[in-house]
This record gives sequence, structure tokens and C-alpha cells, in this order.
Amino acid sequence: MCGIVGYIGPRDATPLILNGLQRLEYRGYDSAGIAVMQNGDIAIRRDVGKLNNLVQMVNNKPLNGRIGIGHTRWATHGVPSPRNAHPHLSASGRTVVVHNGIVENFRELRADLEASGVPFASETDTEVIVHLVQRERDAGHDITEATRRAVSLLRGAHAIVVLSADQPDRLVAVRIGNAGGVALGIGQDEMFVASDIPAILEHTRRMIFLENRQMATITRDAYHVQTLDGEPVDAEIHNIPWDPVSAARGEFKHFMQKEIYEQARALTDTLRGRVDFQHGCVDLPDLKISEEDARRLKRIVTVACGTSAYSGLVGKFIIEELARVPVEVDYGSEYRYRDPILDSDCAVLAITQSGETVDTLAAMEEAREKGARQWSIVNAIGSQAMRVADGFITMQAGPEIGVASTKAFTTSIVDQYLLALYLGQQRGMLSCGEAMQHVADLARLPDLVGQVLEREDQVQELAAQLYQYTNFLYLGRGINYPIALEGALKLKEISYIHAEGYPAGEMKHGPIALIDEHMPVVAITLKDEVYDKMLSQVEQAKSRGGIVIAVATDGDELIREKADYVLYVPEAPRLISPIISVIPLQLLAYTIAVWRGADVDQPRNLAKSVTVE
Ligand code: AGP
Repeated sequence: MCGIVGYIGPRDATPLILNGLQRLEYRGYDSAGIAVMQNGDIAIRRDVGKLNNLVQMVNNKPLNGRIGIGHTRWATHGVPSPRNAHPHLSASGRTVVVHNGIVENFRELRADLEASGVPFASETDTEVIVHLVQRERDAGHDITEATRRAVSLLRGAHAIVVLSADQPDRLVAVRIGNAGGVALGIGQDEMFVASDIPAILEHTRRMIFLENRQMATITRDAYHVQTLDGEPVDAEIHNIPWDPVSAARGEFKHFMQKEIYEQARALTDTLRGRVDFQHGCVDLPDLKISEEDARRLKRIVTVACGTSAYSGLVGKFIIEELARVPVEVDYGSEYRYRDPILDSDCAVLAITQSGETVDTLAAMEEAREKGARQWSIVNAIGSQAMRVADGFITMQAGPEIGVASTKAFTTSIVDQYLLALYLGQQRGMLSCGEAMQHVADLARLPDLVGQVLEREDQVQELAAQLYQYTNFLYLGRGINYPIALEGALKLKEISYIHAEGYPAGEMKHGPIALIDEHMPVVAITLKDEVYDKMLSQVEQAKSRGGIVIAVATDGDELIREKADYVLYVPEAPRLISPIISVIPLQLLAYTIAVWRGADVDQPRNLAKSVTVE
């Protein structure tokens, strides 16, 4: 998904915008561009490839202005090329636009504009927007009204920022649907606009997040928010608790590496403020559910995508065991087309790090339309999934920049554990004392995770043996079956090695035919209730020549005789064991990807927040 940054104030706009884009490069990056007001005209620089190409171009041909907009592009319509890169300029050169989303009706709009003699300079859908705004400006409307009229013709979801050379003291920003966020940063005598918090966090923590079908006009010392129908909006100002350093990479080689190592702290932060030690119970005030509603709750449907969906599969075990509520887990992209059976005694739980995944948001919309309660577990403060939900639980993990999700995965499992405890208390399934025993288990996580992270050298040695294989199988059972799925996803999305996660019991129904000496098999074989079954699985894989890597519990000597490699983890209570067993798999995927010279933080074809369908 594209990254957008805008600035207006007394400072030089160019470095502020380029630095902001650098912090958003994980969002999408096949081209980049910047437009700045310079000597009364709009000056543009655009280039394909990584952001550094644009930075070099600007160094060679500097820009000098106090208001501007910038964009990193993840191409949807029009191949990556300088002419298709944003920002896009109107024919007169007096209006410029950056855009995230898809103009679904751009062909008819383009035909209409071309029929009236408007020349087009690109193959993008976005370009119709700037010509529509210019047409309304030529009809005499100011930039706010011109933008409002223009975007009312668009179909699809959009995040848009507009700059007019004839009103160079303001920017206009628009949000329609779920094409990614639009955050306004309120500074001292300066304003920012960005598609995500990290781009502007070092300048201000005070932010406004546009809602669906809202627009804002910002000058250096003021902002005005309104609906697309022209109604003024009294927008809430959020104070973002994240510190700017947390959004930087620091001494780590990659954001993913940093975020893997941050998990001990992140898990501590996730618990913060959720335990009422005075009364000895879990407290989730942002969930906004009464005891009566909790008792009436008949079913929870967890909807999510990718890693977040696998987190939901782990949470199913925990919530069903502790709160005794049936939990279904479904992919957001499938759920929205299933005409799901829901009612007011059901809750739809959306798990989403970015809070902007369009398929997950669409599933939430289904829930709202069918009268079910909407909950979300989100990391990005102020994101759509946080704002539209009836109640939410934040991951409190700090910004997650690496495309491959790590700390969001583990903290979202803790959030589901807290949800299970809270509902269990509310529904009379758990006494506060029992809940506190589970809290004591959760409180051990930072230390247990820290112990696993200290063993990275065992993963390094293993990765050096395995990085050239082209197929992997990941097997798990019971509460660790989803960890097999997650471990496989981590490997394939950053190293481009084909990897499949499977419930170990399913192997005999087909996949075991895959196993031979070319197929490393990662088996999560902890000392738990399915240990013997997993041991048998390891033996079956070995008997077919497979190379077995076991994730095993400290002190287990038997597994050492069966597997080729063993990654040991400390013993942990069953319900938190998935959070421990996933850590070596995160490290293994990361280390193999580094061995393969892969672009770990910006894997090909991927983006951190998937806001297109
Ligand atoms: C995870 O490593 C992937 N980047 C991807 O599967 C991700 O989890 C998925 O796109 C969901 O993102 P969300 O949590 O922001 O909704």
C-alpha cells in the first residue's frame, strides 16, 4: 500500500517529507515522488525504484519550499515508471495530488475528461483525480470545495492529499473507505499529514485520524475537518503514546530483527494496565461489555488475515478453555462473502496489527450490519479497526515496521488470553483468584522469551545448513498447530522459499508423500499432551529420509535421538507455549532470509498494510 506524507509550516518541507517517506517505505515501494511549492509554482521530482533514487534526484536538483506532499507507490494501475509515479500534476500545472487506493470508475472518468480535451500523462487511475479537482478549480471553487466535488465522483476507497499553487497556504486531505489511514499531525506552527503514524511521530504526538468520508483543510496553524457532505466535524485529538525512537531501527540490521528482540518488552507492555491488582482480576475497560452481555454471549467469530489469523487460531484454544465460549476463526477475505449467521448474542473479533486491512474491516462491517458486537485487537492507535469497533484491546507493542509481523503476533495472543480471562470472570467461569494464576503465567513470558532469544546462536548454525533448500514442511499439533502455519508463513514471505504449515495428524492423509531427503521438516514437539503423537510423526518423517528440525522442551533427551536438529525452548504452561515455540521459528526465517540476501523488511510484492482487495 502506498505511503503519503505532507507538510506545511516554517521549515524546509523537502527533508521532512523525504524522511517521513523513509519511515513509510515498508508500506509499498516501486516508485516515489515529491512535489513542493517553489517560487509560486509546483516543482516535482519522481523516480522508480527505492526511495533512495528519489533522494539522489533531489540532491542533484534541490527543492526549496515550505509546503509539499510526497508519496511512495505500490503499483496497482500502471507499471512502475517515472510518469506513473505520484505526485500527479494537472495539465495547467496548478494542482497536484498524491493518492492511496483504487479509482474503480477511472476509465469512464478518463474518457469523459479526454473527450473534453484534457491531456493525460500517465496510465494511472490516480491521474483522473487531479484533473477533476482542476476542473472544479477552473469553475471557480476554492481548493477545499473543488476537492470535495471532485472526490464525490470517485468510486472505491481512497486516501488523497491535494496541493494547489493558487492557494499555497493549505493542503486538503480526504479519506473514503479503507484505502489506508489519513493522520493529521498537529505541530507548533506547522502541520503534517501522513498515511501512518511513524512518518510524523518524531515531530508531534498529537494526531487526528480522518474517518470514512471525511476531509480536512490544513494550514500551518489550523485545521478544519468536515464530512464530504460539508458538515463540520469536531475531530478527536489522540495523544500517541509511542516514542519516536521506537519507530527507528536503531542498532539492528532490520526492523524485523529489532521487533523479534523487542518481544520481551512488548509482552510486558501488553499486560500493563490490564490487571487490577487491588481486586486481583483482569480489567479491560476499552472492551465496554457488561457482565450481562458477557453472560449472554453465545459465540465469537474471529476474523483476520495472514499472521493475525494464525494468532486467532491460537486464541480459539485459550478463549474456549477459559471463557467457555465457542470460537470460530475465519479469514477476513472469505468471511465477507459467506453471508454469515450472526445476531446480537455474537461477537466478531477482528485481529489486525495495522487496523487498516481492508478484508478484515469488511468483515467487521458484515458484523455491524448483522447486529453482532464488533471487537478489535489492534496495534495501530487511531486505526479504523480501533475506531469503528464497539470495544477494543490494543496490543501495546509499539510500532511494527517490518512487513513480516512478529511482536504483533505474540502480543495479540496475550490480548486474547486477557480477553478469555476477562470474559471468564464476567461469565462466572473463573474466580479472580484463578484468573490471577493465569496472569502469573503471562507475567513469566518476558523472561521465557528472553531465554529463547539468548539462544539465537543455535538458530544461526541451523540456518547455515538449511538456507539453500527450496521446500519446507512445518508440523504442529493442538495449540501449537497454528505455530506451524505461522512458522511457514514467516519463512516463505521473507526468504521466498516454499513452505507449508500442516496439522501433524494430517500428514498421513497425503502430505507425507512429499517427504524425502530434500524436504526439511520442522516439527513442534513440546512436552505436552500431544508429545507422543508428535514423536511418532518425527519418526515417520525420518523413516522417509526427511530432515527433521524439532522445537523441543529443555531437558528432552529422547528427541535428540530422533531428530536431526533440536531447537530447545524452556518449559512453559500449555496456554502460553505457542508464544515460546514461535520465537525460534521467527529467528530461523529471519536468519535464512539474511543468508539468502533477501530484502527482509521489504519483501517483493508485499506491503505492511494490505488496503487493496
Ligand atoms: C504477516 O507476517 C504478514 N505481513 C501478513 O500476513 C499480515 O499478518 C496480514 O496482512 C494481516 O495484517 P494486519 O494484522 O495488519 O491486519
